[in-house]
Amino acid sequence: MPQTWDPESYGRDGAFVHQLAEGVVEWLAADRGERILDLGCGDGQLTQRIAASGAIVVGIDSSPAMVAAARALGMKTDQGPAEKLPYPDHTFEAVFSNAALHWVRGQDEMLSEVHRVLRPGGRFVAEMGGHGNIAAIRVAFAAVLSHLGYAGLGERGNYYPTAESYSSRLERHGFTVEKILLFPRPTPLNDSGMTGWLNTFYRGALDSLPESMRDTAIEETVALLAPALRDHDGHWTADYVRLRFVARV
Ligand code: BEZ
Repeated sequence: MPQTWDPESYGRDGAFVHQLAEGVVEWLAADRGERILDLGCGDGQLTQRIAASGAIVVGIDSSPAMVAAARALGMKTDQGPAEKLPYPDHTFEAVFSNAALHWVRGQDEMLSEVHRVLRPGGRFVAEMGGHGNIAAIRVAFAAVLSHLGYAGLGERGNYYPTAESYSSRLERHGFTVEKILLFPRPTPLNDSGMTGWLNTFYRGALDSLPESMRDTAIEETVALLAPALRDHDGHWTADYVRLRFVARV
């Protein structure tokens, strides 16, 4: 089910996406005057942070709503798929991406495009969901959808590779992998807890359920997950796993 994004709930219940990105921004180490593409830029919060280093940053996202949000921050932003980038060959010193690549259906097409738009010696620095990402959430949501008679509506196409398999994939596309790291990143959620998370990040699947079932789907998923992801004080922690890498052309 294609994801749909609501910049307002993303800004409120998904703010951790850019707040927890210091590590990958450090690995990017943007320099003044460098041309950088922020691939899957979302609402532009990180694009703006990278631009503050003096780099010339352009964002691209497939969601028109997210592009509008990034433009509202004053970021130069294009709309389109990662598999077909609207830039000439060798345009950028770096391509950066945070929390976006796992949504890309055409991984090989995307990697060819990233390679094409990078200058010789340029770098691809990214963080995405890695093997085991949000495993409990995915299993609970899939179980609830199946029980409601909508098996298969959940996260089918998202891609959470191991470090070994993504390294091979990058190398097949002509990249040299400088460093790659798979690590758990337990992610505390805000006061909206798992309900807010599901409403923000599983919007596409929830919207394709009959309206009368949406609240039930959320309530049952929350109830299944509570023993695993909610602590005794009622705080939720999502079971994120990240894959972070630097690869050069
Ligand atoms: C993530 O890993 O960033 C993610 C994956 C699927 C849904 C929401 C977030």
